[in-house]
Amino acid sequence: MTGTLSEKVAVITGAGSGMGRAASLLFAQEGAKVVAVDYVGETAEETVQRIHSQGGGAVAVTADVSHWEDVSRAVETAVQHFGRLDIMINNAGVFDGFKPCLETDEAWWDRIININLKGVFLGCKRAIQQFLAQGGGGIIVNTASVAGLGGMAGGTAYTASKHGVVGLTKQIACEYASQGIRVNAVCPGGIETGMTKDLMADPQTNQVIQQTTPMGRWGKPEEIAQAMLYLASDASGYVTGETLRVDGGWRAK
Ligand SMILES: NC(=O)c1ccc[n+]([C@@H]2O[C@H](COP(=O)([O-])OP(=O)(O)OC[C@H]3O[C@@H](n4cnc5c(N)ncnc54)[C@H](O)[C@@H]3O)[C@@H](O)[C@H]2O)c1
Repeated sequence: MTGTLSEKVAVITGAGSGMGRAASLLFAQEGAKVVAVDYVGETAEETVQRIHSQGGGAVAVTADVSHWEDVSRAVETAVQHFGRLDIMINNAGVFDGFKPCLETDEAWWDRIININLKGVFLGCKRAIQQFLAQGGGGIIVNTASVAGLGGMAGGTAYTASKHGVVGLTKQIACEYASQGIRVNAVCPGGIETGMTKDLMADPQTNQVIQQTTPMGRWGKPEEIAQAMLYLASDASGYVTGETLRVDGGWRAK
């Protein structure tokens, strides 16, 4: 397939649902070979089947992003199947159900931080190892959140984890810019995915989120995938350490 990402190889985590699946389908349409990673293996397989049925190239990996060996296996799969790694999308994440500080016990804190923040750190580190082994150059896109830019959205652990992702993105961008590696983050607002289906099903929460979003609606995973595509392509060639809000204006207020 030809397209914006022709000849590129991308590892995408959280590829079995929501934004990760939307990005996997879009990147494959744009010519990338995709390694679809999810800890729910069947969903990653389904994403791969969809890519194959649209004529693209992809392979599924069942992996937990909070474990180094799993993240490493995902990158090694990219190299074994497609010869290299060009793009790492650290997107897998879990929500904390808006739990405030006093309802956040240590186990809950550890779970959210391990997946949302440590998982992104491991993904960045393993991708950079591979980029440097290839001679430098490479692109990382991390999924943060509007909850990474201020309080209120999300709960204590989620908001802390996403602020961590924003800081990590800026720091690693500075550390590896001279080796041609760009690192950016997307900050979605309220997006219609598996993560938010319960929030959308609750009439009061649904109404509050729509009313507090200037554009007055939830975003679609495909709209986040387009932002990821921009950050993963040469169109953003001079952009690094940036956090791109895609939130219907939610944080513009
Ligand atoms: N939906 C929103 O409104 C919203 C807003 C801001 C940020 N985000 C972030 O966007 C990202 C994608 O979320 P989504 O909304 O598409 O949710 P989703 O639940 O639809 O998809 C997330 C996927 O990540 C996978 N996953 C979770 N933990 C994993 C782990 N440890 N290892 C591997 N895979 C794992 C899940 O199985 C799932 O397939 C997350 O980082 C989330 O925090 C979502």
